Amino acid sequence: MDDAHTLKLKVNGQEHRLRPDPRTTVLDALREQIGLTGTKKGCDHGQCGACTVHLDGKPVLSCLLLVAGLAGREVITIEDIEGPDGTLHPMQRAFIDQDGFQCGYCTPGQIMSAIACVNEGHAGTRMEIQEFMSGNLCRCAAYPNIIAAIEEVRSRMSAAEGAGHEAPS
Ligand code: FES
Ligand code: FES
Repeated sequence: MDDAHTLKLKVNGQEHRLRPDPRTTVLDALREQIGLTGTKKGCDHGQCGACTVHLDGKPVLSCLLLVAGLAGREVITIEDIEGPDGTLHPMQRAFIDQDGFQCGYCTPGQIMSAIACVNEGHAGTRMEIQEFMSGNLCRCAAYPNIIAAIEEVRSRMSAAEGAGHEAPS
């Protein structure tokens, strides 16, 4: 039953009714209340990027956002980027092809930022990619391979646009 303390949050296309403590972050709500553990907790202080999700299409650090302020907004997590038939998102495919991870702990956050990097037009040069991705840390130092994955997706998108096909979202 809804009451003044119930908050509706849309996550990956599904509406969730939560009764969050005022201090609950989006990261903790996703992992502990909704059961989506693909988004990782690294520093929990806005310094590593492991917790990156999309909020209304923009990348955000979910450890810094309080869920109480997000009524009516939409969160997309790593669990929702593959196709309905389980086809990997082009960025997931490129991370595999380019060995863009080792332990994989930072990878969900890296991929969410990388998708935004390409979609928002910040992948024109290696320098631009490095700048946009600078908030996503990788303790395994897979940086060159992560950048290669982003460049691969950017090139495929450019080729698709040149051929008049729809670019991957
Ligand atoms: Fe959010 Fe590190 S867990 S930035
Ligand atoms: Fe291990 Fe990035 S792949 S932290």
